[in-house]
Amino acid sequence: MSSTPTTPRLYPPQVLPSILSADFARLAEEVAAAERGGGHIIHVDVMDGHFVPNITLGPPVVASLRKATKLTLDCHLMIEHPDEFIPAFADAGANWVSVHYEACPHLHRSLELIAHHGMQPGVVINPATRVNLLVDILPLVHHVLVMSVNPGFGGQSFIPHSLQKIRHLAELRAELGLKYHIEVDGGIGKETITSVVQAGADLLVAGNAVFGGGQAEKNARELITLAAAAC
Ligand code: DX5
Ligand code: ZN
Repeated sequence: MSSTPTTPRLYPPQVLPSILSADFARLAEEVAAAERGGGHIIHVDVMDGHFVPNITLGPPVVASLRKATKLTLDCHLMIEHPDEFIPAFADAGANWVSVHYEACPHLHRSLELIAHHGMQPGVVINPATRVNLLVDILPLVHHVLVMSVNPGFGGQSFIPHSLQKIRHLAELRAELGLKYHIEVDGGIGKETITSVVQAGADLLVAGNAVFGGGQAEKNARELITLAAAAC
């Protein structure tokens, strides 16, 4: 994995297996299979039943994952009041933490708090949230996560307008001379991965497409090959 100051985009783009679609009773095995298929960063969806209409997991599961793997843990917080939980995710061993623009009235403070705890801060926008709203905090983030479905569930269809948002973020990055990565999450699979990479994303979350059919290693490898071919 490499990244240079002039070309911040990762080559090859990274496929981030999302454990939301994994068998939670066999998480360590599922993560190991995705790693054998070439996954280096595991996407962990944290849902509270308030910000999104679903409940998943919290810091104790992240701590267990931390013991089971050395891979980077990318925690996507779909929760209200995320500041209250950031220290617990740091203690659990999270590496990257992203918070939703829509959940953070003091987004600047939330991002600084994540960095203060030694983690890489990311900001997430829902499908209805415009990229322009992020301009003032872009210098603070390691990654911007574009939701290409409404958050809460795996296995939904990719929203095509997300491609324009990815392009816009890539243009802004060049214009402002910044280095953030562009992550995309929701509906990424064999049919959509090429267009997402061509639009400028370098972190590609895939849940159902990796873990859905019970062949995580093979699925991850195939997606990574497609993503690399799209550059
Ligand atoms: C949805 C989550 C995603 C989810 C994506 O709210 O943020 O990370 O796992 O699932 P797929 O890849 O199946 O659309
Ligand atoms: Zn996610």
